[in-house]
Amino acid sequence: MMKDQKLTSGFPSLKFFNGPLQYVNLLAFLLFFAFGLTAGVFLSLQFKNVTFNLLVNDGQISLSSSPSRPSPPPPVTTALPPPPGKVMKHKGLADLLEPPDIMHDMNDEELLWKASMTPKIQEFPFKRVPKVAFMFLTRGPVSLAPLWEKFFKGHKGLYSIYVHPNPSYNGSEPEGSVFHGRRIPSKEVQWGNVNMIEAERRLLANALLDVSNQRFVLVSEACIPLFNFSIVYNYLMNSTLSHVEVYDQAGPVGRGRYSRQMQPLIKIEDWRKGSQWFEMDRDLALEVISDKTYFPAFQHYCKGSCYADEHYLPTFVNMKFGKKTSKRTLTHADWSKGGPHPMSFYRDRVTAELLEKMRSGSNCVHNGSKNDTCHLFARKFPPQSLDRLVRFAPKLMHFNQ
Ligand SMILES: *[C@@H]1O[C@H](CO)[C@@H](O)[C@H](O)[C@H]1NC(C)=O
Ligand SMILES: *[C@@H]1O[C@H](CO)[C@@H](O)[C@H](O)[C@H]1NC(C)=O
Ligand SMILES: *[C@@H]1O[C@H](CO)[C@@H](O)[C@H](O)[C@H]1NC(C)=O
Ligand SMILES: *[C@@H]1O[C@H](CO)[C@@H](O)[C@H](O)[C@H]1NC(C)=O
Ligand SMILES: *[C@@H]1O[C@H](CO)[C@@H](O)[C@H](O)[C@H]1NC(C)=O
Repeated sequence: MMKDQKLTSGFPSLKFFNGPLQYVNLLAFLLFFAFGLTAGVFLSLQFKNVTFNLLVNDGQISLSSSPSRPSPPPPVTTALPPPPGKVMKHKGLADLLEPPDIMHDMNDEELLWKASMTPKIQEFPFKRVPKVAFMFLTRGPVSLAPLWEKFFKGHKGLYSIYVHPNPSYNGSEPEGSVFHGRRIPSKEVQWGNVNMIEAERRLLANALLDVSNQRFVLVSEACIPLFNFSIVYNYLMNSTLSHVEVYDQAGPVGRGRYSRQMQPLIKIEDWRKGSQWFEMDRDLALEVISDKTYFPAFQHYCKGSCYADEHYLPTFVNMKFGKKTSKRTLTHADWSKGGPHPMSFYRDRVTAELLEKMRSGSNCVHNGSKNDTCHLFARKFPPQSLDRLVRFAPKLMHFNQ
């Protein structure tokens, strides 16, 4: 009884209990107390390892706690030496963003998947200088390379070059050329075949692997620039729209190439035409290489006299991203003689007057206002035109001399 009274005085709540139940409750209470004590001791030991830092920063006070490090492990005396020839390197963001070797071993499926990745955070945590990716879709060598060399001279860091030749081409550009080592893994391409678009998507995907590339221009070995690099660069970087030509044409060479098998995904009213030679920004390039809906329809049903290269991008871009394109091409071509190919400019047709005429086009809308520069590039210039072009074009176009 005394014992009970003593306890009752110490623990007033216990006085409500009586009889055998009291002992059961007491036991439970003691167990609970012991558990609490253990937990308390354990936690206080944990908190001994935490140091509290009071930070006073520009008048703002913040409390930060950081676990102090556990005592360091004893030094490992038998550390393995680094493997010979391999220096252990800490990787920074720059290393992680380095694009893979231009001649990588990825197949198309792997390449497109890798290239479709895009950062969710829009701001770059470093100074990103945007580049223009020049994508050369060629049969063999870049035959007008000496002219392009002069165009690129002095603008390193503002452009990157990708060349997709026919796989059977075994030549290579000399060291020191801007085209040296810029060949990407390529596959066979036939004029008018859908594999032409596969090559364009391959070029886009390879160029997307470089996070600095912002604008993407498709050119062929028969294309030339019409302005110097700084004008081209500013025109593209300042452009709010991409340049994928889009128009609706009746008749056999327009809507006549549509295949009913594309219904209901693509209706005849959706069918569009446009030049193969495009220019687009990074966002649109990502959409093009990620298209798993419309492109397969072209792979299956755009055969024979369908000419995917003149219809896939105009139709797809117009249907899904019509507001993102100026609907005009930046590459000048002369179709005045009619037929399936534009005019080729051989030797004496290549004159200063011709280039001036191509440069001063007509009236175009650039960035929402009128601009007299409609074309930045022109075709078709066969290899024989190189001599004359190199002789007067750099001066006429104010290349960096
Ligand atoms: C390149 O291909 C041609 C024939 O297509 C062949 O005659 C030549 O030897 C090849 N050159 C090299 C370096 O492989
Ligand atoms: C864009 O246009 C402005 C004004 O026309 C010019 O000052 C600037 O250098 C251009 N280029 C870029 C890359 O913004
Ligand atoms: C055309 O656009 C270019 C590039 O943005 C700009 O520098 C030039 O001033 C524009 N020309 C006209 C006539 O607006
Ligand atoms: C084009 O538009 C962009 C974005 O609105 C602007 O930064 C740029 O200065 C404009 N360029 C011209 C030549 O109007
Ligand atoms: C590019 O051409 C324009 C005139 O067309 C000229 O004012 C400018 O200085 C040239 N740029 C370079 C880097 O030579």
